[in-house]
Amino acid sequence: MNMNKSWWKESVVYQIYPRSFCDSNHDGIGDLNGIVSKLDYLKRLGIDVIWLSPVYKSPNCDNGYDISDYMDIMDDFGTMEDFDNLLSEAHRMGIKIIMDLVVNHTSDEHSWFIESKKSTDNPFRDYYIWRKGKDGLEPNNWGSCFGGSAWKYSQETDMYYLHLFADKQPDLNWDNKKVREEVYHMMTWWSDKGIDGFRMDVISMISKTKDMPDGAVGKGSFYGDFAPYVIHGPHVHEYLQEMNREVLSKYDLVTVGETAGITVDEAGKYAGFDRSELNMVFQFEHVDLDFGENGKWNDQPPQLSALKEVMSRWQTGLYGKAWNSLFWENHDQPRIVSRFGNDSEYWEKSAKMLALCLHMMQGTPYIYQGEEIGMTNFPFTSISQFRDLESINAFRELAGGRVFDDAYMMKCLNYKSRDHARTPMQWDATAYAGFSDVMPWIEVNPNYKKINTQSQIDDSHSIFQFYRKLIALRKANEIIVYGKYELLLPESEELFIYTRTHDGRKLLVMCNFTGKTQEYTVPDELVLLSRELLVSNYSDSGVENSTMLRPYEAKVYSMING
Ligand code: GLC
Ligand code: CA
Repeated sequence: MNMNKSWWKESVVYQIYPRSFCDSNHDGIGDLNGIVSKLDYLKRLGIDVIWLSPVYKSPNCDNGYDISDYMDIMDDFGTMEDFDNLLSEAHRMGIKIIMDLVVNHTSDEHSWFIESKKSTDNPFRDYYIWRKGKDGLEPNNWGSCFGGSAWKYSQETDMYYLHLFADKQPDLNWDNKKVREEVYHMMTWWSDKGIDGFRMDVISMISKTKDMPDGAVGKGSFYGDFAPYVIHGPHVHEYLQEMNREVLSKYDLVTVGETAGITVDEAGKYAGFDRSELNMVFQFEHVDLDFGENGKWNDQPPQLSALKEVMSRWQTGLYGKAWNSLFWENHDQPRIVSRFGNDSEYWEKSAKMLALCLHMMQGTPYIYQGEEIGMTNFPFTSISQFRDLESINAFRELAGGRVFDDAYMMKCLNYKSRDHARTPMQWDATAYAGFSDVMPWIEVNPNYKKINTQSQIDDSHSIFQFYRKLIALRKANEIIVYGKYELLLPESEELFIYTRTHDGRKLLVMCNFTGKTQEYTVPDELVLLSRELLVSNYSDSGVENSTMLRPYEAKVYSMING
């Protein structure tokens, strides 16, 4: 069994979406100096690593995921000096920083693309993916992730370029060795600066098949699916191994690949302990369970048994072979307490239960800004309140009776929009939640007077303190990092119960996913073990055999394996 110890297996990562974290210069937009001012808050929480969503130069069509210069900083966020200061301040406090690496595509305002589109013999032409139209139409029927065709016509050369995301995000051609060399050069430049790793945006999509046939057209869609020709395409592992040889192996970096649409087996290739590619994957099967028959836009949470099946398959499938990330939220996901918990009556209990359920598993936990204080979804009432191009485009394409009526589309957006994650971080009860002293670029959640860091930091029963405790427990108990996982009671739609086993010790993790009291009888082989309560979200959880789990109760018993 290969279970070598590594610092990144034992770390907890905190994701910052800089635009929404903290504004230091009164323009309503979060920035690098704002992050510096909150490092002591993060230190207090106890995290080890910050994942910084993109801070590079960008025209911001997708909030920095469209980069026009990889070696410069976005004006809204500050300067390269500000970045260097953030890095050295973080390091001084023992916090590492990993950068978002967005190299499936650039901005159409990147100098490579400006050159590329000029003529077919331009030296940068093959940096991107160009095709001739078919019968006066796009080269194939692929739809982009953000709506519309995945191809955009360019009149300079009477050809189309591929963009799997927005038309301002042209896909790079990874089959061109020069592109790969440019990327490695840029990664080396950042690594030499002393950054601690990379989170690799949609890295499973960098290698496309040469032939690009029409894709299958799903229900409620006008366009074909590119996935079979793009997701873990023909050369992706070859390119990642090359990247590892050329850059990653030369530094002590942590790498995490955003790998949408992959299977457990495929994850073993990206993040296998014996493969020299990446350290871990960041996959979405558990948060894609609430896709409906029309894809992402749906308003119903999944069944608990389905969630357990998926999470358990990843826990056992990668055990001893490869490494996974543990997350409920990121900048593309709605707030977990509103999604799988209860953000009204049981707000606090269910936020803690979800945290415990995830943090007792194997993998590197990621906490998304605001999750640690139980930030909730925003109550959107009008499409004009959205800022995210995915939400806005989806409304334009699907609402108005085209696929859904406006009211139902609004319901879907209120359940799933990426903007729920992007409302300003709630620091205190003053105007604009202490995020800024002017009107922010996106509205503050109206519940900020109740839900904010200031009201939670010193309250020993707060969600913040509960996350802090979970992080501390992981550091003090090897079993949480390295123990073997086993699911109990797979068919229950109310309870999520599992064990971890390591070195003669067992943890019994029990979570009630409902607002009703549930009864659970501990299996005979566990009854005999002496046990002690490690952590619980009710202050009076005790040690019984036949256990009642109150609404959203969650607890962990530690047992000695006889
Ligand atoms: C990733 C990012 C998302 C972005 C997309 C295109 O999925 O997480 O925010 O829009 O890639 O870069
Ligand atoms: Ca600012």
